[in-house]
Amino acid sequence: MTFSVAFNWLIALFSLVPFIRFGDDWKKSLQLPPKDTRVRTSDVTSTKGNEFEDYCLKRELLMGIFEMGWEKPSPIQEESIPIALSGRDILARAKNGTGKSGAYLIPMLERIDLKKDYIQVHVVIATPGRILDLIKKGVAKVDRVQMMVMDEADKLLSQDFVVLIEDIISFLGKGRQILLYSATFPISVQKFMVSSHLHKPYEINLMEELTLKGITQYYAYVTERQKVHCLNTLFSRLQINQSIIFCNSTQRVELLAKKITQLGYSCFYIHAKMMQEYRNRVFHDFRNGLCRNLVCTDLFTRGIDIQAVNVVINFDFPKNAETYLHRIGRSGRFGHLGLAINLITSEDRFNLKSIEDQLVTDIKPIPGSIDKSLYVALPGDRPVHQETWRRP
Ligand SMILES: *[C@@H]1O[C@H](CO)[C@@H](O)[C@H](O)[C@H]1NC(C)=O
Ligand SMILES: *[C@@H]1O[C@H](CO)[C@@H](O)[C@H](O)[C@H]1NC(C)=O
Ligand SMILES: *[C@@H]1O[C@H](CO)[C@@H](O)[C@H](O)[C@H]1NC(C)=O
Repeated sequence: MTFSVAFNWLIALFSLVPFIRFGDDWKKSLQLPPKDTRVRTSDVTSTKGNEFEDYCLKRELLMGIFEMGWEKPSPIQEESIPIALSGRDILARAKNGTGKSGAYLIPMLERIDLKKDYIQVHVVIATPGRILDLIKKGVAKVDRVQMMVMDEADKLLSQDFVVLIEDIISFLGKGRQILLYSATFPISVQKFMVSSHLHKPYEINLMEELTLKGITQYYAYVTERQKVHCLNTLFSRLQINQSIIFCNSTQRVELLAKKITQLGYSCFYIHAKMMQEYRNRVFHDFRNGLCRNLVCTDLFTRGIDIQAVNVVINFDFPKNAETYLHRIGRSGRFGHLGLAINLITSEDRFNLKSIEDQLVTDIKPIPGSIDKSLYVALPGDRPVHQETWRRP
């Protein structure tokens, strides 16, 4: 049973299963697609050197894999496939585009017995609400399911779904195996990991960790009404190359963007209610330096990797550490300096303390003047385009 967004690969792999071919020269009969010659990054190339043949997979499955053009397992596949085949629960962190789907589909297909006429899988791909409905109506019988996969587990275990997921698990047979794949690792996933649903899960972590190293973090105590004024002061005092300003809702993003424009600063804004395509375009333009400030809700799940952004402002302070880290943190490889400023109202006090504790970091009161060497790149480090970056 799989919960997944991308199941076209499953169908492609699966459709090849019935075409069993015999003989030793099965490899010669493969119809391989043209070689993919695109440049690959280390998250798909830094492998241990395993081969798909090392996993003793069914011949027809191997053929399907090769005919998909997959030559060697990617790192996440090398980590997952043997463990998943052994029946152990898995909790894996890896980003999109690194071969996650193959990491669970291959062991899943290997373990299917087509002669058994029930879900073990045969495979069901479903959204949680729908499958639960079918289970409760007695249409989907899942008591002999041996493997359940949750792709994008962070979404499936969020408050909206976790109750449904727990309900579904309660219908599965004994000895079922659960595989969780997630790009992020919020508290909801951590809670699930230590719950009784998983049995000593094997943990895989191929994510580049976000770090707060090099980021100087300050807070300023304000009332709600003082926030815009405070932001204005920051704009006039700081040497901002590019900034990202976070709000906690779509409406507040739109309102603040309007205020910032009225103050005479240029800004773009994006939030979750905008069309993805449009969001991407705005973000792309921002990344290319077309505008100095970006106001947004939490849209980045992996930190902001834009070198030119040297100031991040939490106009609304986040409620949990995971969100804070995603807003402020950078992936270590950039070794990048920056400033994070948090506007804190009396309601945020406890969150401030708890986030500091959880992330083992120090958020200091904002001083009267901030040393530029903490967040402004030195001249000569990188070109600064004066014309483009003159203050409005
Ligand atoms: C991964 O891909 C899925 C589906 O293509 C998408 O919904 C999700 O937001 C992506 N996650 C990340 C962290 O990029
Ligand atoms: C967002 O922040 C405002 C001001 O602090 C607060 O009144 C509101 O309840 C918050 N909304 C959410 C969804 O947290
Ligand atoms: C400032 O931003 C511009 C535009 O994104 C970029 O080209 C430039 O390198 C940045 N300067 C610094 C010092 O980061």
